[in-house]
Amino acid sequence: MRFRIKSIRQRFTFALATVITAIMLIFSFILIGYNNNSLEKDLCVRLTTLTELTVKSLSSALWQYNFEYISDYIDSLFLYEDLAFASVSTKSKTIKKKLLQGFEGKDFSYFKESPKFITKEAAVVYQKVVVGKVFLAMSRERINSLIVNNSVLAISLLFLIISAIFITIYILSRKYLFQPLTSLENSARSIAEGRLDTQIDTGSEDEIGKLARTFSQMMQNIKAITASRDELNHEIAGHKRAEKEKKKLETKLQRARKMEAMGLMAGGVAHDLNNILSGIVSYPELLLMDLPEDSPLRKPIKTIQESGMRAADVVEDLLTIARGVATGKEVLNLNTVVDEYLDSAEHHKLERIHPLSAFKTELDSELLNITGSASHVKKVLMNLIVNASEAIEGRGTVTVSTINRYLDEPLKGYDDVRTGEYAVLRVSDNGSGISPKDLDRIFEPFYTKKEMGRSGTGLGLAVVWNSMQDHNGYINVKSSEKGTVFELYFPTTREKMADEGEQAPLENYLGHGEKILVVDDEERQMEIASGILTRLGYIAEAVSSGEDAIEYVKTNPVDLILLDMVMPKGINGRETYEEIIKIRPGQKAIIASGYAKTKEVNMAQELGAGKYIKKPYALEKVGLVVKEELEK
Ligand SMILES: Nc1ncnc2c1ncn2[C@@H]1O[C@H](COP(=O)(O)OP(=O)(O)OP(=O)(O)O)[C@@H](O)[C@H]1O
Ligand SMILES: [Mg+2]
Repeated sequence: MRFRIKSIRQRFTFALATVITAIMLIFSFILIGYNNNSLEKDLCVRLTTLTELTVKSLSSALWQYNFEYISDYIDSLFLYEDLAFASVSTKSKTIKKKLLQGFEGKDFSYFKESPKFITKEAAVVYQKVVVGKVFLAMSRERINSLIVNNSVLAISLLFLIISAIFITIYILSRKYLFQPLTSLENSARSIAEGRLDTQIDTGSEDEIGKLARTFSQMMQNIKAITASRDELNHEIAGHKRAEKEKKKLETKLQRARKMEAMGLMAGGVAHDLNNILSGIVSYPELLLMDLPEDSPLRKPIKTIQESGMRAADVVEDLLTIARGVATGKEVLNLNTVVDEYLDSAEHHKLERIHPLSAFKTELDSELLNITGSASHVKKVLMNLIVNASEAIEGRGTVTVSTINRYLDEPLKGYDDVRTGEYAVLRVSDNGSGISPKDLDRIFEPFYTKKEMGRSGTGLGLAVVWNSMQDHNGYINVKSSEKGTVFELYFPTTREKMADEGEQAPLENYLGHGEKILVVDDEERQMEIASGILTRLGYIAEAVSSGEDAIEYVKTNPVDLILLDMVMPKGINGRETYEEIIKIRPGQKAIIASGYAKTKEVNMAQELGAGKYIKKPYALEKVGLVVKEELEK
């Protein structure tokens, strides 16, 4: 069986255990062998000495036939340990024979052949005459058990010593080798997983410490390299972004120039055509008055008149496209324009042409006013709605909606919409959509996918585009196979419409000179909010950053703070509020933001801030929320 040893620690332990076991085994063998040998030798020496002693002691007794002495002597021999057999004999007979208990009846040859005994025989000589023989046998039993006992003792002792060595080596290597190595390994792993600022233990002075220091130095270098690489990447990304942005802007500029040029041309043609057309449109009318009812000329002249009227419509579009011709502007509300259009004869006709299309509206009741030309906006709306219903094959829905939108940062889209307050007119449909390729050109005059001259002249969106330029507005178009959304951004105004009165009784939310601090980084927003609050009877103070607000409240207590949430140049609204409540615990505040309710808003509210209002502000909304918060 092969098994893989993975760590140095395992390998070290395994090697240590193997070496120590081998040493232990060798030592044991040597020790046991030596012990065995010396005991055996000792036994032999004892037997030889005893034999010699016996031969000497018995020589004269044998010569004199002193059997009694011999018998006593042999008996006394058995005082010696290990002696198992002793006998003395002359040439003719055995004089005395003695055996250890349990071996009765055995003779010398038995002991000689058995491996459990060692034997010795010697001649007894008296004055150079052999007078008899001595036979002795000693048992190995005792020394065998001695050997076993000694071996066990020796092995146990060795085992103890070796275990002590093993444990010492293990503890030392663990402390000075494995633990530093493991810690280094952990650091390396953590670094490999991307945590570049992992601490490396460089405390010790030994080789591992040196390795750790080198490694740490290497990490510092890598960190420096990574940082400069990140910086470089960041710079490259920045350049790329700028390059892309530039290209986009260039295309947009080119597009705008092209449209302007085409508009100018269309406008020029329209002026000339307009003069020519007046003859074609007005003369048939005069002619018809003079012609008798049954004249065969009436029909062709009527056709001429109708064609002239159609041409006049086209010319009117062209004139709209030629900018600067727009009629006077007034304060108006997009909701009114939408309502008026949807109630017009043109729209009812459209509904009859597209019976399967449903027309829906979602109008913001607090929509801010704009400055514009109602007739142009109506035309714009009509063109969008006509296009939307033409894009729907079969059943579908065209939705017209209006909403206030405050942009804290520019909105990137078809046009780049600048920051500010807008009233947005949205026309969306679930029709066939516009391909990206066409999307680039749809606003060009005469660009149409419909059969030129029959169902479309391609002037509809050109009118939309030019009207929006005229209104300093922006267009955003999004389209997919699921449908198209046109969003028109009209800059708002705080002026009232000519016939517009106060909507709700102001008394419901009038203030009584309470002091309110407006915090907003946009000057126009600051002015609007201060204006509204003053109008409502409050004393309004304004600062343009969170930092200024904190300074302000240090010395001036205020009843309420109207706090902008997003202020990119400094600390945001939530951070500002966090600091302010340290100075004025329980400070009342209202949060304003152009965005939908964000996490930051929630956090500020958890800290104690009150209601959130969405920008752009409507007087009534601000009034009600301020009143509610102050009365809390
Ligand atoms: N909502 C829409 N869905 C799909 N395609 C659209 C939509 N709006 C415009 N288009 C595409 O843009 C093209 C240009 O529209 P535009 O209104 O300028 O001209 P037209 O509708 O073709 O003609 P006209 O409006 O002068 O009768 C259309 O031909 C159509 O292909
Ligand atoms: Mg159209």
